[in-house]
Amino acid sequence: MSLIGRNYSFQNPDPNSRLYRFKSLRYDPEMEELKQVLKAINKWETRKIQKLYRRAKKGTARGSQQAVIQLLKIIEDYKVEHMEADDPYMPHATAEQISNNRQGIHVCNQTGDGIPMSPDADEFQLNTLVIGPPKAGKSSAIFYGLSQMLFLPILILDIKNIWRHRAQALNAKVIQPPFHIDLEPPYGITWYDWIFSVLDGLALITGLQYGVVPFIEAAKIALQQREKYINHTQSNTSLSLMDIYHALDFVNTSRFKRDYILSCKTALQLIIGPNELFSAREGLPLNEIFTGRYIIECCYLSMIQCRFLAFYFLNYLLQASYHCLESSHLKGIIFIDDSSSFINRPDNAFGSAPSTGFWGHILSKLRGAGRGLIFADQLVDPIFDDVKQLCTNWIIVGGLRDTQNYNEVMSAMNLTRDQADYIGKMKPRECIAYFPNLYPKPIHGVIPFVPSIAEGDFDE
Ligand SMILES: Nc1ncnc2c1ncn2[C@@H]1O[C@H](COP(=O)(O)OP(=O)(O)OP(=O)(O)O)[C@@H](O)[C@H]1O
Ligand SMILES: [Mg+2]
Repeated sequence: MSLIGRNYSFQNPDPNSRLYRFKSLRYDPEMEELKQVLKAINKWETRKIQKLYRRAKKGTARGSQQAVIQLLKIIEDYKVEHMEADDPYMPHATAEQISNNRQGIHVCNQTGDGIPMSPDADEFQLNTLVIGPPKAGKSSAIFYGLSQMLFLPILILDIKNIWRHRAQALNAKVIQPPFHIDLEPPYGITWYDWIFSVLDGLALITGLQYGVVPFIEAAKIALQQREKYINHTQSNTSLSLMDIYHALDFVNTSRFKRDYILSCKTALQLIIGPNELFSAREGLPLNEIFTGRYIIECCYLSMIQCRFLAFYFLNYLLQASYHCLESSHLKGIIFIDDSSSFINRPDNAFGSAPSTGFWGHILSKLRGAGRGLIFADQLVDPIFDDVKQLCTNWIIVGGLRDTQNYNEVMSAMNLTRDQADYIGKMKPRECIAYFPNLYPKPIHGVIPFVPSIAEGDFDE
């Protein structure tokens, strides 16, 4: 009879049973307890322990006794080590658990035993949040990781213009301001579908939901103009947000309040900006950018431009992915360093902004595009909730300043209270890395040394 569905619990073997003459089947409470202790100190799954335990259970009387003594010694040694180290992250993980045969991307070395933690590159598809105070070593930690991904497309959005010093080491090209973005749709997407999705995001980011309709009307006018131009001149052309701005003048105002149109124009002006980020009909070749290795210097962009630019890039990748098979492998990394302008709630003097943005919508769907996002930031609290929820991997480098958010960090990183309290004592380069797909507990480690920008190890 099948056991499935029955409430089946393990019965201790009957000492009079015929099976009891097989030593390995005997129920031995002391050996069971030893096993539980070895599991609790995370020594159970190593080959050496398994061998000793088998000998203790099935060996000759003498062999069994010696094996038990050795196992007890391992437990005693652990107790001494634990007391001396006073490390709330003990028991440490074993090499098998966190290094996957030493393949993958080496993130850090576990403190205590120096065992490398190296999650598989594909685990970066689950998005990574790196947090820590100023000068703690966040950028250096990511540089160390990225320098092991030299054959993947990467895009770094660099708001401090410091990554140019690492461009050569990363084999990446630097795009300096001023640069422009046109409205050319990704391959296989119609102009209308593309522009609709862009304007939808624009309305969300500028807080102008009611503006979507006039935006769409203006986009239709701009698209008709474009078609006329192409038919007339037999030459192709693209569009820019500036074309939509001008087309708003031709929208039938009887259907909208005039104020709506003015608000739409103001919103577009904020995004286009004095740096004319979105005013060109021939901007950066996004197709090329997403298949290459680039650093985009964003220091002159406003916060609202940063958010829209991030939305625009990710929406581009998302829409392009609808025409491809879902990817189970990492196809590229997008790293946003000092990401507060991109991923923080835009609170202001009038109160708190909504705690979610467009990120939830995009990040939850972008999984199939094979892109991994990495964000580095100093504070946890102001980050949009959807970003925090959709970053599966978390790394704390050098501690945390906003300690009132330990509870949030504790639940995101599966920390115990003692482990969370330790965050206040961390030093630069020291890290806590949580990659739950690799190992279900946080690893306390140290980021290896990398050449420092400050010491001028890189050519200008
Ligand atoms: N892994 C490392 N190897 C060598 N030096 C490091 C490392 N991490 C940090 N440092 C030192 O600390 C300084 C600050 O590091 P880094 O710029 O990576 O910190 P950060 O957390 O990104 O700072 P910020 O918040 O200002 O962006 C570096 O210039 C370097 O001197
Ligand atoms: Mg930094």
